[in-house]
Amino acid sequence: MKTRITELFGIEHPIIQGGMHYVGFAELAAAVSNAGGLGMITGLTQKTPALLAEEIARCRTMTQKPFGVNLTFLPTVNSPDYQGYINAIIQGGVKIVETAGNNPQKWMPVLKENGVRVIHKCTSVKHALKAEAIGCDAVSVDGFECGGHPGEDDIPNFILLPRAAEELKIPFVASGGMADARSLVAALALGAEGMNMGTRFIATQEAPVHENVKQAIVAASELDTRLVMRPLRNTERVLNNAATQRLLEKEAALGKDLKFEDIIEQVAGVYPRIMLDGEMDAGVWSCGMVAGLIHDIPTCEELISRIMREAEALIKQRLAGML
Ligand SMILES: Cc1cc2nc3c(=O)[nH]c(=O)nc-3n(C[C@H](O)[C@H](O)[C@H](O)COP(=O)(O)O)c2cc1C
Repeated sequence: MKTRITELFGIEHPIIQGGMHYVGFAELAAAVSNAGGLGMITGLTQKTPALLAEEIARCRTMTQKPFGVNLTFLPTVNSPDYQGYINAIIQGGVKIVETAGNNPQKWMPVLKENGVRVIHKCTSVKHALKAEAIGCDAVSVDGFECGGHPGEDDIPNFILLPRAAEELKIPFVASGGMADARSLVAALALGAEGMNMGTRFIATQEAPVHENVKQAIVAASELDTRLVMRPLRNTERVLNNAATQRLLEKEAALGKDLKFEDIIEQVAGVYPRIMLDGEMDAGVWSCGMVAGLIHDIPTCEELISRIMREAEALIKQRLAGML
C-alpha cells in the first residue's frame, strides 16, 4: 500500500508503533520496522541521553529499516535533558522523531537542520494545525479512545479524523482504537494515510514486557479502561486495576483540592514494576479501549502482514462488492 505516510517515512506499510513508556525498547521498534511498519524507541524511557544513544545503536544491530524515536514533552516531576536526547537522536543518525505532549516548536529548527522528519502526536484539530504551522511533516491524530493521554476534549476518532482531514494539508495517521485491518481501512476512509497503534503492539511476541501485561490486555474488554487525573487536566486512559480504584477514590474524596502529590504513589515510577516485573497492581498504566479487540499475541510480522492482507480483502471484496 502506498500513501503519503509510506512515502514520507520510506516504509512498506502505513502502520506506526507509537512511543510507549517502558515498552518502546529496541526489540519492539526493530520488530515493527522489520515487519515493514515504523517502529519507535521511547526516548524518555532511557534515563539519560547516553543510554538513548546505546538503545539507538542496539536497534541498528537488529534492523536495517527506518525507525524513529518518541520524545514526549509532558509535565514531569523533573524536566528531562531534551537537548541531550536530541543530540543522541541526531548523532545516532535517526531521521524520524515522534513528538508528543507540549508543542515541539523550540526543537524544530535543530531537527529540520539535521534532516529529521517530525510527526507530532496530538488530540485536537487546533494542535494539529499548530503542528503543521511550525513545520511538522505529519501528525498522529489521537482520538478519545486512545491509551495514554487523550487530552481534555473527548472527541472520538469518528469525528476527529474527518475534522482533521477537512483542515490539514500535511498527511496524518489515525491513532487511538486502532487494532486491525478494519481500523486501517476505516482510518483511510476517514481521511488518514495510515494508522498508529499503541496497546495492540504491547500484546505482541517481541514487546519486551512481562507476560502478565500481555495477558492483561488479552483478558480486558472495551469496558475495562478508566480515565484518571482529569481533575489535574492531565487525563490518562489506563487499565482498571486496584491502583486505578485507589486513585479514583482519592480523586472523588479530594475533588478540586487534588494535587499531584496526593496520587504520586499510584503514578510515579510505577512503569518498571508493571512492564518489567509484571506487578499488575503496582500502579496505573496506560491502556486503550482497543483492548476489547485484542485476542491474541502474534509476532509483529504476523500482525502487520495479517492487517495488510485483510485490508486488501476488505477493500477489494467487501467494499468493492457493495458497489
Ligand atoms: C503503556 C503505554 C505507554 C505509553 N507511553 C507513551 C509515551 O511515553 N509517549 C507518548 O507519546 N505516547 C505514549 N503512549 C501512547 C501511544 O503512543 C499511542 O498514542 C496510543 O497508545 C494510541 O492508542 P491505542 O492504545 O488505542 O492504540 C502510551 C500508550 C500506552 C498504551
